[in-house]
Amino acid sequence: MYNLIDGKKIASEIKLEIAAEVEKRLSAGKKVPHLAAILIGNEGSSETYVNNKVKDCAEVGFKSTLIRLNRDISETELLERIAGLNSDTDIDGFIVQLPLPEHISENRIIEAIDPEKDADGFHPVNIGRMVIGLDGYLPATPFGIVELLRRYKIETAGRNCVIIGRSNIVGRPLSILLSQKGMDATVTVVHSKTRNIENFTREADIIVAALGSPGFLKADMVKVGAVVIDVGTTRVQASGTKNGWKLVGDVDFYDVAPRCSWITPVPGGVGPMTRVALLRNTLMAAGKK
Ligand SMILES: NC(=O)c1ccc[n+]([C@@H]2O[C@H](COP(=O)([O-])OP(=O)(O)OC[C@H]3O[C@@H](n4cnc5c(N)ncnc54)[C@H](OP(=O)(O)O)[C@@H]3O)[C@@H](O)[C@H]2O)c1
Repeated sequence: MYNLIDGKKIASEIKLEIAAEVEKRLSAGKKVPHLAAILIGNEGSSETYVNNKVKDCAEVGFKSTLIRLNRDISETELLERIAGLNSDTDIDGFIVQLPLPEHISENRIIEAIDPEKDADGFHPVNIGRMVIGLDGYLPATPFGIVELLRRYKIETAGRNCVIIGRSNIVGRPLSILLSQKGMDATVTVVHSKTRNIENFTREADIIVAALGSPGFLKADMVKVGAVVIDVGTTRVQASGTKNGWKLVGDVDFYDVAPRCSWITPVPGGVGPMTRVALLRNTLMAAGKK
């Protein structure tokens, strides 16, 4: 019988810890942490993500500012808004919600963010610090996954870990964190050009599915007793739901779960932990002042 990794519960616990830190700051006469978010356009899932982030801020006692910009904003104008946030001393951290419209370079925008205010942990300086094991702002989803493994005391040392997906925001940074001293996993990253992915996943003690293909991981790709972390969140049409859609993970949950020792659900697994990581980075930024 499998055990469920409850990301929602752990995220709530971490939020209480962060709220207690905010209280301590206030008692010491310090200001509350302030997170700003830039949202460009009104695409459904980005809108939901940003609204949730603003809600999280309120829950832990942070100040938040939501900056809505038109989809046709030029890259130069966006860079000017970023420069404004970089120099605003009241703002501790900020994010630019991705993806961006096609006429704007994601890399140029990420590089324009002051690394000290990089709440998403995407800036090359923070990625570099992570690679060599220095303290810094960690990318939200990899941090959330590592924190879930730690809090559930799931052993990673010496374990074979296979990550499906090599994106800059999930697969690649996670592979670095899990192979670092302290986590000590042996990590294999597979991707769309990997041949016979099942040959790798069948050998894995821990599988992280982060490819964005609903129900990709099936039971016959998983060894008995494996730990399975599902990062995927694809919106698929679903009649009878409030919004007409539901979130589906990259793991065929009901097929795979019976073979697992531990497994995350979607929703309620990695997603809430990603949101909490943003709060953690903002608190850290405020603490540096
Ligand atoms: N829960 C959360 O908080 C959270 C956070 C971030 C992302 N997500 C979700 O996680 C998923 C992945 O996100 P992402 O931003 O990392 O996606 P991405 O940038 O599209 O990267 C997907 C990765 O998966 C690989 N891939 C795609 N199809 C594959 C296949 N059939 N077999 C093997 N590898 C395949 C790609 O390989 P190539 O490099 O060869 O193209 C790529 O490396 C999405 O569903 C996203 O919505 C969830």
